[in-house]
Amino acid sequence: MEHNDLFNLNGKVIVITGGCGVLAGAMAKSLVASGAGVSLWGRGKSRPVAGAVEALARETGRKDLIHGVTVDAGDKAALEGALAQTVREFGEPEVLINGVGGNKSKSPFLDADLASFREILDMNILGGLVLPTQVFASRWIEKKIRGSIINIASMASYLPLSGVWAYGAAKAGVMNLTAACAKEFAPNGIRVNAIAPGFFIGNQNRRLLVADDATGELTERGKSVIAHTPFGRFGEASELGGVTVFLASGRASGFITGVTIPVDGGYLVHNI
Ligand SMILES: NC(=O)c1ccc[n+]([C@@H]2O[C@H](COP(=O)([O-])OP(=O)(O)OC[C@H]3O[C@@H](n4cnc5c(N)ncnc54)[C@H](O)[C@@H]3O)[C@@H](O)[C@H]2O)c1
Repeated sequence: MEHNDLFNLNGKVIVITGGCGVLAGAMAKSLVASGAGVSLWGRGKSRPVAGAVEALARETGRKDLIHGVTVDAGDKAALEGALAQTVREFGEPEVLINGVGGNKSKSPFLDADLASFREILDMNILGGLVLPTQVFASRWIEKKIRGSIINIASMASYLPLSGVWAYGAAKAGVMNLTAACAKEFAPNGIRVNAIAPGFFIGNQNRRLLVADDATGELTERGKSVIAHTPFGRFGEASELGGVTVFLASGRASGFITGVTIPVDGGYLVHNI
């Protein structure tokens, strides 16, 4: 095999759920640059999917490699419909990136609102992993496709973050299920891995980290994240591109399954 082919994704179709999100958009850009066709699946609530498709087409100059579907990742029947539509309109996906997830607010544990607690678990565990994994893995097993699933974990998968109780529990679950599903689907040649981003400014965490968008002034929490990150800064979304391409490419990472890779500027190796 030519070394240059390790990261060549020509001809591969990749679905990203939560595809209108900030990190998903950056991952999609790197995948398209490596030759993959990317189908952005979004709910279309905060941003219409067509808008995200257009923006990515503009940024990459590869309209031919970008497709979009409006679908709620928390609805299994809708996901099955979206997969059938993607196969029909764009091609057979071989990679699923579970990009749905996020947090809403923080509170003391005793004041945690149970309705939002359930909502966060649902979004990150069911819509963010379980339901799309069931839908894709069923098809891949039936069609004997050796697919690859990439989940999105978090620093909260390793160590609790204060105030975001449901998010931490859910993201610990994402890392656990990544390993569990890797074992479950290994006999079918399906790989399951995860990326654990450190702190990147996304839509879901902006209010927690940035006090003033105009000046860039951080909240106390934002300052404490930076103090705890050896690189002394937030990540740039584009810095998730390399690991995404690596895990999507069977030629580059074909014997890797069940791992969660931190991309965190050293957050997890911080010490005193
Ligand atoms: N930004 C960070 O610092 C950071 C750090 C660690 C992990 N993450 C994780 O990375 C992933 C992406 O985060 P982001 O910062 O880009 O956030 P984001 O809010 O920009 O993206 C998440 C997307 O998921 C979509 N979504 C939510 N529920 C959905 C559903 N049921 N169906 C379809 N789409 C749905 C949202 O509309 C949004 O477009 C999340 O899992 C998040 O927890 C982010």
